[in-house]
Amino acid sequence: MGTDLSLSPDEIRSRLEALRSRDLPTHGGRTLAYVYDSGLATADAIGREVLASFSSTNGLDPTAFPSLLAMENDLVGIAGRLVDAPDGFAGVVTSGGTESILLAVLAARDGRPDVTSPRMVLPTTAHAAFHKAAHWLRVEPVFVDVDPVTKRAVPEAMAAAIDDRTVLVVASAPSYAHGVIDPVEPIATAAAAAGVRCHVDACIGGWVLPHLRATEPAQLPWTFAVEGVTSLSLDLHKYAYTPKGVSILLHASAALRRPHLFASARWPGYTMLNTTAQSTKSGGPLAAAWAVVHHIGGDRYVDLARTAREATLALAAVADGIPGLSLAAQPDSTLLALTTDEMCDVFTISDEMLARGWYVQPQMRFGDLPATVHLTLSAATAAASEQIAHDLADATAAAREAGPAHVPAELVAMATSIDPATLDEATLTGLLTLAGLAGEAGELVLPERMAPLNAMLDALPPEVREVLLLGVVDRLVRPTG
Ligand SMILES: Cc1ncc(COP(=O)(O)O)c(C=O)c1O
Repeated sequence: MGTDLSLSPDEIRSRLEALRSRDLPTHGGRTLAYVYDSGLATADAIGREVLASFSSTNGLDPTAFPSLLAMENDLVGIAGRLVDAPDGFAGVVTSGGTESILLAVLAARDGRPDVTSPRMVLPTTAHAAFHKAAHWLRVEPVFVDVDPVTKRAVPEAMAAAIDDRTVLVVASAPSYAHGVIDPVEPIATAAAAAGVRCHVDACIGGWVLPHLRATEPAQLPWTFAVEGVTSLSLDLHKYAYTPKGVSILLHASAALRRPHLFASARWPGYTMLNTTAQSTKSGGPLAAAWAVVHHIGGDRYVDLARTAREATLALAAVADGIPGLSLAAQPDSTLLALTTDEMCDVFTISDEMLARGWYVQPQMRFGDLPATVHLTLSAATAAASEQIAHDLADATAAAREAGPAHVPAELVAMATSIDPATLDEATLTGLLTLAGLAGEAGELVLPERMAPLNAMLDALPPEVREVLLLGVVDRLVRPTG
């Protein structure tokens, strides 16, 4: 290989264009997960401009780049007002929902040095970021089943799971998987009675639900107005429609935030002083978020939220009437989860939707909760909701015609017998080969249609799914050249 990596700007542009040709579209409303599109070209333009102009600034030291500190404090103030934060609240801007959740769990754990083997109580529908936090921070997760019909956390069961090792209780507003708001009031009351922190994960709902309050007075309460809520996460890179890399973690007081602030003067370099997980951090995403939030402004966020919500309700009503399809739960926000009867499966529907130009996200079964198709609707999707409904009916009819994806029983039996703790590379390669995922040289080959693979994974216990998918990702993320 030559050592000269340099390309001309035109070559770079054309290479990137080629690389992006297989990516999902980020705009236009056809990607119903991962991306959020306001449909406002001027908001996108100012976001991109500011992202670029602040990309080299560094949030490592707030005295070196005071502009970043000013914008962070402004955004935290706006977010706090949106979710009824009490006087004396404090917050930070993080890189995303997962970082906000990791910090909330860290603060809860380290806020209770008296508890030597900490636990957190969470509904089975809480976002997997809490599982990562549990794993990284060695906080034992105590999972509580949700109501099988509403898919909401069951407050009595949550309360019963709290014990003297519990450092945190979690609720979602709404949950990602089913788009429903947990009954935060009784959950936070139970946590407060036990002297335990209660975190509301409003990563996906935090910038949309407050804007729906005027038209939906019956919305379940979930903000700091609920007694006992001690922290709350809300992502700007979701429904504030900002470029990626920005979430906010709020605490009811600065004292509650204190355990995740970090300083180290025990080396001969600069005193490292961090409020979040990152140390050097680009000011680009923060500044872009500040710009987009102030460009869109309060009234337009209300319009965008209502547009997305109305489209969600309209699509929910139509989808529920499509033969073979039904709502997994009544949506409380702008997310839809649909499930099927036994004539077809969600994985084939997802493939059929992709063939029609829509990305919808298959979600696997967990415990008694069935597999679902997930749709995140943003404002820009709304205009297309009739077309989505039409294509969803078509895709479901095609999936019924084809029948559920075939899952080879011997492969499932073999995979199910795996002990994830002792699975070696050779067995894993053998399994991937049997599943049709390995090429001639053992390299990973992903199929065009994902349904057979997803249906097989769906039939396996979650811990086996995890170990197989880790094997896949390990093979995918390898250096080229
Ligand atoms: C409810 C909820 N919590 C947490 C997260 C994690 O956020 P991120 O992907 O930004 O880390 C998400 C992402 O969709 C979410 O919907």
